Amino acid sequence: MTRGSLLVDHIGELVTNDGRDGDPLGIRRDAALLISDGEVAWTGPARHAPAADRRIDAGGAAVLPGFVDSHAHLVFAGDRAAEFAARMAGEPYTGGGIRTTVGATRAASDDDLRATMGRLRAEMLRQGTTTVEIKSGYGLNVADEARSLRIAAEFTGDTTFLGAHVVPAEYADRPDDYVGLVCGPMLAAAAPYARWIDVFCERGAFDADHARAILACGQAAGLGVRLHANQLGPGPGVRLGVEMGAASVDHCTHLTDADIDALAGSETVATLLPGAEFSTRSPYPDARRLLDAGVTVALATDCNPGSSYTSSMPFCVALAVREMRMTPAEAVWAATAGGAAALRRTDVGRLTPGARADLIVLDAPSHLHLAYRPGVPLIRQVLHNGVPR
Ligand code: NIG
Ligand code: FE
Repeated sequence: MTRGSLLVDHIGELVTNDGRDGDPLGIRRDAALLISDGEVAWTGPARHAPAADRRIDAGGAAVLPGFVDSHAHLVFAGDRAAEFAARMAGEPYTGGGIRTTVGATRAASDDDLRATMGRLRAEMLRQGTTTVEIKSGYGLNVADEARSLRIAAEFTGDTTFLGAHVVPAEYADRPDDYVGLVCGPMLAAAAPYARWIDVFCERGAFDADHARAILACGQAAGLGVRLHANQLGPGPGVRLGVEMGAASVDHCTHLTDADIDALAGSETVATLLPGAEFSTRSPYPDARRLLDAGVTVALATDCNPGSSYTSSMPFCVALAVREMRMTPAEAVWAATAGGAAALRRTDVGRLTPGARADLIVLDAPSHLHLAYRPGVPLIRQVLHNGVPR
């Protein structure tokens, strides 16, 4: 018996994501899983389960890897409920509200920002998210971008510098100067707290030349590349991301055949954010087209106060199945292993020996129920690093 070990027993359906036998979810029935030192130590048939110090009886329920939410904007103050209400009454989403959140965020104290992030992180954990990426992007000056990332780094190792979210009002008539600020002092102040760099490459935000310059500076500072691209209309973002070896291009709502071909021949993940289409009442991305072309697809919440104020990965899975024609298995894979791929992580998003023991026990016998029973709190128990939360 391994000291300090924990056995999760009587698992009706264990989703391992080991990809063996042509089943991406690597489902095992009547299984057990042994945890030691915060890692998965063993999985196998329940009847062969080893002895352990402690035991959780899953009672025939499904056990899945914890969700990997690879795209979230959790450093902000205030909300934009009135903007949402206006949209539901017919106003379009333009991203113009970002500047409202920038004003509120700059005015907030560190403790206010920390409290909001803590509340959202706890909300996510309750809904089964055990890994989250957190972006800056509502500071948009040197001090506020740096403190956004410093506070985000208290919650995750996957922090992303999004100083190029939009051009802030004070630089509205000199965007080149703002790009210089982002690449110079802002990047220098942000990089110690960031793993990734991101740009909102879209009409009204940053064009391809500006985005390329900013991403190249970030790469030179040792940051990995990711990109907001092709959200509000077609554009060069997705191909730029592929060209620059981005880990992920996110949104991918408006894609041409050339965009799909570029993604299919690359290591870049397409991260789809159906919460944004839901909350902006926009057409959903065509996940089927991406999957059929062989593109690796991830699902994430895009949690932010403007375009997608949901922290729920189960909700995104349900939307992906109902609205984007993903199978339940594809959606669950995209929300776990897909998110891990988008963050270039091999320690999460799977339940195989050596992986971090991040898992969820559902109040249901199968992963199918996540889409089949939308809006129902199906996360019975969450283990993070092997510790029940
Ligand atoms: O991913 N597209 C850009 N950024 C966010 C929205 C931010 C906001 O509206 O506050 C997004 O959807
Ligand atoms: Fe986003």
